[in-house]
This record gives sequence, C-alpha cells and structure tokens, in this order.
Amino acid sequence: MLKNNGKASNEKSESGEEEKPIRGFIFACSNKTEAECFEREVLGTDNIYGPVVIRIRKGDLLFLINLDKDNLYGVFKATSDGGFNIEPLAWKGRYPYQVKFRILGEKIEIKGASKILSKFGIKRNTPIVGKTLQEFLDLFIKTLLNKNKDIGPIEEEKKKINVKRIDIEKEIPLIESTTFWDFPKQSYGITPKGNNKYPGVTPALIIYNMVWRYTKPGDLVVDPMAGSGTTWDVCKAEKRRCICYDIAPTRPEIIQNDARKIPLKENTVDMIFIDSPYGDNIKYNDHPGCIGKISAEDERFYEELEKVMKECQRILKPGKVLGWLIGDQWVKGRFTPVGFKIYERLCKYFEPVDIICVARRGQASNTSVWHNRARRFNFYLRGFKYLLLMRKQDNKKKDTSPRKIKWAYYER
Ligand SMILES: C[S@@+](CC[C@H](N)C(=O)[O-])C[C@H]1O[C@@H](n2cnc3c(N)ncnc32)[C@H](O)[C@@H]1O
Repeated sequence: MLKNNGKASNEKSESGEEEKPIRGFIFACSNKTEAECFEREVLGTDNIYGPVVIRIRKGDLLFLINLDKDNLYGVFKATSDGGFNIEPLAWKGRYPYQVKFRILGEKIEIKGASKILSKFGIKRNTPIVGKTLQEFLDLFIKTLLNKNKDIGPIEEEKKKINVKRIDIEKEIPLIESTTFWDFPKQSYGITPKGNNKYPGVTPALIIYNMVWRYTKPGDLVVDPMAGSGTTWDVCKAEKRRCICYDIAPTRPEIIQNDARKIPLKENTVDMIFIDSPYGDNIKYNDHPGCIGKISAEDERFYEELEKVMKECQRILKPGKVLGWLIGDQWVKGRFTPVGFKIYERLCKYFEPVDIICVARRGQASNTSVWHNRARRFNFYLRGFKYLLLMRKQDNKKKDTSPRKIKWAYYER
C-alpha cells in the first residue's frame, strides 16, 4: 500500500494539512567531488544554484550528474530540506548549499546525461514536475528492468507524483551577470512580492538579485522605506531575516518609522535596500515626514535623504552592501540628474561597488501619446533607473597598495 494511502499529493492529509507535490532536482559533481556525495549522503552546490537548493523539501527526488563522465545517477530522496552549510566540512566548504539524501533502492547509473537532460528540457534551475518527472523516473525503471532488479521503491514514488498540479515554480531565476537588468514582471514565483498596485512598487527581482549576491540565508536585511513590503516578501521567500520600516506602513509587518532615525544599533545589519522617492512625482501618503513631498529640484530633498544615508552607514556592518534605487527627473522642460546627485552624496559615506541600469517598465507614460510628445517636443521619457551599489568601508580589509593589472590585448 502507498505510504500516503494513494492520495494525489496536493490533497489534504489526515492532519488536514495540504501535502506538497513531489518535485525532482538535478545536482552536479565532478570526478573529484563525486565520492564525497555518497560518503556523506549529501549533495551540494555553490551560490549560483543556492536559490534552487533552499526550495528543496524533505521528500523531493534528487538526481546527480557527473560532468566529467556525463553520467546520470539516481534515484535519491531528500531526507532534509535544502539548506546552507548542513555539512560545513563537506568539499572544504566550497559547496555550502546542501541537502541530505538516501538512495531509493539501489544506486542507478545511466550514460549520456547531457543528451537526456536536453531531451527532457531539464535545467538545473527547473524543478522536474508532474508527467515529466514520471517519464524521467521511467528511465531508471527501464534500467533496473534490463538488469532484472527490483523496481518497487521507484514505482512507489512514481505513483505519488501529482500530474495535475501545475502551480509550481517552473524556473527559479538565476542571478544577473551584467549591469543591465530588465525584468518584464514586477514579481516572480508563485506568491506575490509586494503589491503591484502600490505607486512606485519595486521590481522584486532587483531585491532578489541583491539578496543572493550580498547575503547568506539567515542574514539580516533592512528596508527603511519599505512601501508595500516587496523587500519583506523577497526575504521571506529567500530565507533571510528582514526588518521593514516606512513613514506610513501599509501592512502589519512594516514598522512605522522615519528613515532619518533608524532604531537599530550600529554595525548590526547585513544588507540594506532602499527604493526612495525620486522627488515629488508620486503621492505616497499624507504623512508630513514623507520625503516624497519635496521636489527633486529643491536641494532640501537631497539634504533629507543624506540623513537617511548617514543612518544606513551607521547600522550596516563594515564591508556590507547597500543598494539605492533612484531615477532622474525631467519635468516641464527641466532635467534633474537625481541619480548622480544621490550618488555624489552616497560617496561621502560609502565606497562604490557598481552601478546597475534597471530598465523601467509599466510606466504610466508608456503610451503612444507620450512617446509622440517626447519626439515632437524633443525630450526623452525616462527609460531606466540606477541601482547604486555601495559598500560600507571595512578598515580591516582596506587595501591601499597600487594594483598591477595585466591586460590581455587582442589583435583587431
Ligand atoms: C518608492 S516607495 C518604496 C516602494 C517599495 N520598495 C515597494 O516595493 O513597495 C518609497 C517609500 O518611501 C516612503 N517614505 C517617504 N519618506 C519617508 C521617511 N521619511 N521615512 C520612511 N519612509 C519614507 C514612502 O512612504 C514610500 O512608501
């Protein structure tokens, strides 16, 4: 008899809780790292696939490819949720995103892994679900049948797979590799991140990218101007701790506070994200302390935001990163380089890490009327924002020695 009494896996269990569907995930190893996987019964990966691993649940199915041999191993069952540093000593700490497993029946090896994965359309950041997972398991069942071996344990898992449930993440986003970010949608994943009706809501993947580049699971992220709470939702999904403030909170998780005085001790925060007002172009609320009431053409706007920068510098741990999202302004014939002006002030308190150009989408001005006006009256609609990435100086790690750079010159 099946362990779950043959129920489809999204039906309610006897305890009344909804059972989560079983998914499959692919890990990779090399000739050097393979043995340790089986000795420790743990699969691991680095930061690139960290977002995939933290989504693995106990009971999911796991597979392993050896990239040197181009072999596929299976079928394994996760005996823990995916996590960070479960076995800190494994692979000398090089692959800290890990999950524990046991072999279902016996270890099966199939040749030609890359061909198989491309035939099934499986990538390392795509959970294998439903019918595809069943068909993938059939490969292993076939191998066992050819050897007259017991297919029982895998058959049993196959029966538990729900082929109807489709509300699962199809693809887990990989982090961006260039300084140009263009996200077609405000949110990602199954659950909403922030409220896409909130004026000036942040594209969630900006925060996702920052969280995965500059923090580890369990680190503390702060958003002093949290609006609809996109930072909160991203941090919960990515297993980070989070404190969100706003002058006019929109939900219970957000604490009422003026960003010019943040009630946290110095050197306590691992990352800060701020999407501040860009001037007085949006009416956020009626609170007299809202900096979004001051025009970006008025120097007071920058003076007030500088107080926020100073507070951020105080609470951030040395060496940790702040991301400030900001856009320029063009109104009634006058351009204001808000981004450069904010960057200049940030440089008083932080050292630059990089500048990201974020494509603006879903603008109210993205209509043919406005595009034609921009052409006719010779101005530009705002097409991008800046994500200013800044680091709090770590005096212990300061390297002032002159750098020698060996450029590789290419013949043209
Ligand atoms: C661009 S919105 C933030 C959007 C948010 N990241 C989201 O995804 O919903 C800017 C926010 O700054 C807040 N704000 C303005 N002045 C503030 C102040 N002095 N202290 C704290 N928050 C402030 C506004 O209330 C507004 O919610």
